[in-house]
Amino acid sequence: MTAPFDPKSIRDAFPILGRLVNGKPLVYLDSAASAQKPEAVISAMAAFQRTSYANVHRGLHTLANEATQAYEDAREAVRGLLNADSADEIVFTKGATHAINIVAAGLGRTIRPGDEIVISDMEHHANIVPWHFLRERFGAVLRWAPITDEGVLDMAGLAELIGPRTRMVALTHMSNVLGTKTDAAAIAALARAHGAQLLLDGCQAVVHGPVDVQALGADFYVFSSHKLYGPTGIGVLWGRAEALDALGPFEGGGEMIETVTRDVVTYNAAPHRFEAGTPPITEAVGLKAAIDWLSGLDRLAVADHEAGLYARAVEALRGVNGVRIHGTAPGKGAILAFSVEGAHPHDIAQLLDRYGVAVRAGHHCAQPLMARLGVTATARASFAAYNTVDDVDAFLEALTRARSFLS
Ligand SMILES: Cc1ncc(COP(=O)(O)O)c(C=O)c1O
Repeated sequence: MTAPFDPKSIRDAFPILGRLVNGKPLVYLDSAASAQKPEAVISAMAAFQRTSYANVHRGLHTLANEATQAYEDAREAVRGLLNADSADEIVFTKGATHAINIVAAGLGRTIRPGDEIVISDMEHHANIVPWHFLRERFGAVLRWAPITDEGVLDMAGLAELIGPRTRMVALTHMSNVLGTKTDAAAIAALARAHGAQLLLDGCQAVVHGPVDVQALGADFYVFSSHKLYGPTGIGVLWGRAEALDALGPFEGGGEMIETVTRDVVTYNAAPHRFEAGTPPITEAVGLKAAIDWLSGLDRLAVADHEAGLYARAVEALRGVNGVRIHGTAPGKGAILAFSVEGAHPHDIAQLLDRYGVAVRAGHHCAQPLMARLGVTATARASFAAYNTVDDVDAFLEALTRARSFLS
């Protein structure tokens, strides 16, 4: 059952939003880096630790069984969130970065010199560096899909890059800097036409709207729990059953084996093949609580609310002398990267903090994108379900003060 959208009650669900920062009410606009946690997540993790905690999968006692059930219930919750075909397609990882490294390392086993990996100018380093490893170690060639000045993925440019040597197309589903959403279905069709696989980095997209991996047509989809109102330390790799089956193991040990002898080792099936060692058990409980909490909201209404906040901020900043907004793609998500002429983004962020306003400043782990934009860093305000019109206005007022202080 979804409740009618009510920003006030959403806000009340987040204890941290009641605190003061530098004597001012906290205005948290850094959710693209990591979202705050609702009480439902905090208390689910504490309750699990208090009542049912044990290691999973290897025990025969009551607590081990309860913990295993809770861990596998979390896997089922992620399956539902992504509309995956089977819970066996859901691998728990340390986060999105870990998930992409698993896929890249698995693919690396069959990479021949000259095989191509297609990425774009607006990827997070997590979706760049693991592919650079394949370049350094096996002679793979990285091909960079261009973006337009608005920050839209240039589909014609992308189509030219995908060819018979393309092994993997690895693209963001929504940019963490520009907020651009990519057209996954069209990209999947291009990749499929050349027998290449498609990995989508869903870190931001999964937070701002429903995701249906069966409809997207990708082979892999990754995200991190901590941006989805869940805890740190856990993320998700979804892979189509055949794609996961074809992938070799990444780390060794624990639940990922079938048998081990002095001479050989055979591997467990997915998802366990990729979950070496004790997994993030309490964090899985927290992620499930986050998904359950989110599922209680009308997600399209939340997306509309976030878009409204973004529009209000952009409307006020558009035309302000010396303020440049990065990323104006149609239908983009509620992420506002901006530069202020004559002011370093770090100074902007520090001055905003004096007014209790938390924004991020830096290269946002997207240095190739910074180069494309002709900057070394930007400031970034990102909006989440719990932000309000008052937050936007407090941000705008603090920015006006910061600009006059710096001028
Ligand atoms: C688009 C995108 N991809 C990947 C990542 C990496 O996520 P994590 O550090 O949780 O592994 C982030 C985090 O900022 C991101 O925004």
